Amino acid sequence: MIAPVTAHVAFDKAADYFGIRMKKIPVDASYRADIKAVKKAITRNTIALVGSAPAFPHGTIDPIVELSELAREQGIGFHTDACLGGFVLPWAEKLGYPVPPYDFRLPGVTSMSADTHKYGYAAKGTSVVLYRGLELRRYQYFTATDWPGGLYFSPTFAGSRPGALSAACWASLVSMGEAGYLDATRKILESADKIREGIECIPELTVLGDPLWVIAFASPSLDIYRVLDEMSTRGWSLNGLHKPIAVHIAVTLRHTQPGVPERFLADLQASVEAVKANPEAGGGMAPVYSMAATLPMRGMVSELLRRYIDVLYKV
Ligand SMILES: Cc1ncc(COP(=O)(O)O)c(C=O)c1O
Repeated sequence: MIAPVTAHVAFDKAADYFGIRMKKIPVDASYRADIKAVKKAITRNTIALVGSAPAFPHGTIDPIVELSELAREQGIGFHTDACLGGFVLPWAEKLGYPVPPYDFRLPGVTSMSADTHKYGYAAKGTSVVLYRGLELRRYQYFTATDWPGGLYFSPTFAGSRPGALSAACWASLVSMGEAGYLDATRKILESADKIREGIECIPELTVLGDPLWVIAFASPSLDIYRVLDEMSTRGWSLNGLHKPIAVHIAVTLRHTQPGVPERFLADLQASVEAVKANPEAGGGMAPVYSMAATLPMRGMVSELLRRYIDVLYKV
């Protein structure tokens, strides 16, 4: 399976579980999958290509048209990961934003995912995987015919699942309705525009790529993880990214309330000033993030994460 480095790590997790070898492809200067590298990486062992609409780290949409065409030419699968964008992009397009095609309108797209629990506004525990045809979906099924417990069939990786979650998800979707989604998306994209423009006006910060509502930014002159710490003390929870070191904000409906984008930008400016005024200050999470991002011994970092999970189970 060939995926850009920015594709969600859930693909690595799946590849690990299913014994599939992942080939990672770099992104170009716009933080989108490098098509030439994908072309080069395809061999007769390749089963599928992946593209994100958009990718979690930088909110950028991969060149899905070109990637899915490549897959179609080769007769292999192409998955569009629209987990983040599946319940934003269709409405963004209707609102007139420039959204390139990323879905089954493209003949090469064979499967897609869209998270109802993100911008679908349903509770966590539901998501959607879509297949171009029933034939492809059948590979997901598991059946057992010789078990003393009787005949068994299961359509999903998880075994027992609560129907209540699906019902609650359905209720969320219909209660939002097209009008609700259009309204939410309009508010999110307008607030994101304000936030992006505001970040671009802070000389110490650089926005990565050309994002719509998941906005990653870095700093050539400051430790951006310290800016993240400063933002935390002001009540903002940003995600720390690495390779390259940056942070991002995923703009949600909560951020669209009156005055919130302005408060975010004022706090960001103040955080940048605080780091500039005291560049050598220690403490906070910044040193931990920096070490985890740069330590060459990745096995050690992985062990650290495993121990962290141990601790979570202890309390
Ligand atoms: C773009 C994208 N793809 C996939 C996933 C993975 O979802 P899960 O948490 O179900 O592994 C996420 C979750 O954040 C995501 O943002």
